[in-house]
Amino acid sequence: MLAAAGAAAAPIPELVQKDGRHALMVDGAPFVMFGGQAQNSSNYPLALNKVWAAIKDMNANTLEIPVAWEQIEQVEGKFDFSYVDTLVAQARKNKVRLVLLWFGTWKNTGANYAPEWVKFDNARFPRMLDKEGKPIYCLSPQGEETLKADKKAFVALMTHIKKIDEAHRTVIMMQVENEVGTYGYARDYAPKAEAAFNAPVPEAVLKRKKSPVALAASGTWKQVYGDYADEYFHAYSVASYIGEIAKAGRAVYNLPMYVNNSVRDPLEEPVKPWNKNFASGGPTFDVIDIYKAAAPAIDFAAPDIYSPDSKKFAATLDKFQRPDNPLAVPEMSNAAEYVRYAYLVLGRGAINFSPFGIDYADYSNFPLGHKATDKTMVEPYGKIYSAFRPMERQWSKWAFEGRTYGVAEGDDRAPQTIAMKGWKGTISFREWQFGEREYFKEVKDLPAGTDKPNGGVAIAQIADNEFIIVGQHARVKIDNADGKPTMWARVEEGYYDPSGKWIMERNWNGDQTDYGLNLTGKPVVLKVKVGTY
Ligand code: DGJ
Repeated sequence: MLAAAGAAAAPIPELVQKDGRHALMVDGAPFVMFGGQAQNSSNYPLALNKVWAAIKDMNANTLEIPVAWEQIEQVEGKFDFSYVDTLVAQARKNKVRLVLLWFGTWKNTGANYAPEWVKFDNARFPRMLDKEGKPIYCLSPQGEETLKADKKAFVALMTHIKKIDEAHRTVIMMQVENEVGTYGYARDYAPKAEAAFNAPVPEAVLKRKKSPVALAASGTWKQVYGDYADEYFHAYSVASYIGEIAKAGRAVYNLPMYVNNSVRDPLEEPVKPWNKNFASGGPTFDVIDIYKAAAPAIDFAAPDIYSPDSKKFAATLDKFQRPDNPLAVPEMSNAAEYVRYAYLVLGRGAINFSPFGIDYADYSNFPLGHKATDKTMVEPYGKIYSAFRPMERQWSKWAFEGRTYGVAEGDDRAPQTIAMKGWKGTISFREWQFGEREYFKEVKDLPAGTDKPNGGVAIAQIADNEFIIVGQHARVKIDNADGKPTMWARVEEGYYDPSGKWIMERNWNGDQTDYGLNLTGKPVVLKVKVGTY
């Protein structure tokens, strides 16, 4: 999987786009991250054992883990990359790729991961000012020295990664800062920020970001964007800052780079001006265009999802999956009710799916995440990844070709349909494997593991009448889209071997297919052929 020492270096990872779909190319071919993100404080050599153990149980192919500014530049100008060296060496041993999360000026909007020499020098590294001129918790994106210092550290990091990893490509992507923006305040009100706020909106922003209300076509932020101006201006300031860091880092070692977002309500209609309801200035869906204008060195913005509501979950994916923005979920709660979303996200062609909190450190972020900090937390993901991983490269290719579909059981538990090329898939939930519901009206039992929504299915249409199906706690039926009577031709359970050959374990027929394909809590891979008569 990883290039052997001395072997010719694989091409550098890159994002490619075709027909509005995206792939992350790793070693020259599409690569979907079946990933996991470690907790915030596991980024130290001695803490890594508890990370690898969980990543192994999860059967992940990628680990996302922080590299903090405070740990690589505790003393200004003196860089220490010993943790990065250990991490990368151990990742190779564990046959896992890495996404490094740069915790610099902002981590969940705060400055906690900046070195002490940055945190407490407000004169050199200014904090944002509120309307009364009082400093707040957040470092200002207008701080020139802060930008210079963060950029220098990030460039040093990229230089080091290039040095140790260019021949291996273990590190495949960088997240620049973490959940940026500001809680409680719309923007910086310091004199420098005020002057920029009252200057004309840059042309690049005007071109990309239409005002939600019809106002002036050009002019100051307030004139063009009215009540949305404060948030948009702050987004522009933060994005420009991050964009400059990313650009400098990529000039040294050109890995794909992205920003993650603590999302705003995706169902709010119409989208209202910021009102303390999310971090202003972060890459929320409403300002993706501003990020694109201000930070071209950032490839995409991605949602961190911590709301289990099925409508909100799907709506968030809708907002972030765009022809100019690949779908990636670099963070999601690891709680049980989120497991089913693996199928939705992967089926929709995401390049990354990485639940958060994947290690065995003695910490749980319940109620956001799972209460358990042991195997019980990762096992459900482990089962899903075990089904996908043997065909991860095939899946990644199918996703890039737009052949994949995903469904997660909704909170309403209702059946769902998917329109595929020539065929209609119907996915229902809480069914027994035998018979139709109406045959056994008196049976009140429900299958184990379905007390809460826990079903999901991902389908790849690999040929006109052939499908690969992975799922759990769901019944799948496939019918001809034009209503012609349909029959299963073959339903093979099996897997792809390392050479890419399909290996059949058994052919499902009779009871196993008479009432649809009934998937239990143990995800299996089916290779299915259908026909009409
Ligand atoms: C989202 C952040 O990006 C993570 O680092 C972490 O703080 C989680 N929230 C909460 O556990």
